[in-house]
Amino acid sequence: MSTPLGKAKDEAVQAASAAKEQRQREGEGSLVRVVDLVAGYVPGVDILNGCDLHCAEGELVGIIGPNGAGKSTLLKSLFGLVDVRSGMVTLKGQDITGKKAHELVAQGVGFVPQTNNVFPRLSIEENLQMGLFRDPKRYAERFDYVAQLFPALAARRKQRAGSLSGGERQMVAMGRALMPGPSVLLLDEPSAGLSPALQDEVFLRCRQINATGVSIIMVEQNARRCLQICDRGYVLDQGRNAYTASGKDLMNDPKVIELYLGTLAKA
Ligand SMILES: Nc1ncnc2c1ncn2[C@@H]1O[C@H](COP(=O)(O)OP(=O)(O)O)[C@@H](O)[C@H]1O
Ligand SMILES: [Mg+2]
Repeated sequence: MSTPLGKAKDEAVQAASAAKEQRQREGEGSLVRVVDLVAGYVPGVDILNGCDLHCAEGELVGIIGPNGAGKSTLLKSLFGLVDVRSGMVTLKGQDITGKKAHELVAQGVGFVPQTNNVFPRLSIEENLQMGLFRDPKRYAERFDYVAQLFPALAARRKQRAGSLSGGERQMVAMGRALMPGPSVLLLDEPSAGLSPALQDEVFLRCRQINATGVSIIMVEQNARRCLQICDRGYVLDQGRNAYTASGKDLMNDPKVIELYLGTLAKA
């Protein structure tokens, strides 16, 4: 015989499993899908506590959130650089959870880490070649594509990457990740440390790259600018999704403004 308490418990269990099913359906058919991801570095310490995310073909998705929220960890777990403990990552419907970075590059994922993202002693050209070392025959064709996006790189192809400015290095890093022709590009804080004018340029380039058909998942500390250019945004907080909506809706959401955008939002 079921007691009122037992009934309430059953209902709670049912509601939880319905919510889980709903979450597992979210983003079905997307290019990239992350479901209920738990991941971390040190055994016993989870940094991501059940993250969900999806990126449709051709979409530009932004991830914002406070320092230490797990944004970089999320990107790194998509690229096989962090221990995934449970949950799932799929690419074009295929399970890629825990696959290694080189396999992911071959499957069409590009990743630009926030720091140390170029080989400083190599020239621009050699950096771009490193991006395509598995398939050098396509170099000329891929170089043309990257040169169109970043004409300044092509003009200075012999220059050592270490002698470039921060903004130029960021272009080299993006160019290198684009060399294999990824279907999705993961960018970790591409505008960090750049002057406002160069930040604008980076965001513009992201839009241009996206317009050539490359989907983008971008983490940004420049939250307002990121929400302005992205199709959809995620606010990550303490390893969990806090808010998800179109970039515009997030930017105008009073709660998001109060908690994550601060007074800058009114600027
Ligand atoms: N290599 C690492 N080893 C152990 N802990 C790490 C490592 N990298 C990041 N963390 C921890 O994971 C948490 C989230 O970091 P991170 O993903 O870099 O945050 P965000 O990019 O949102 O600022 C932080 O508490 C950070 O200290
Ligand atoms: Mg980070």
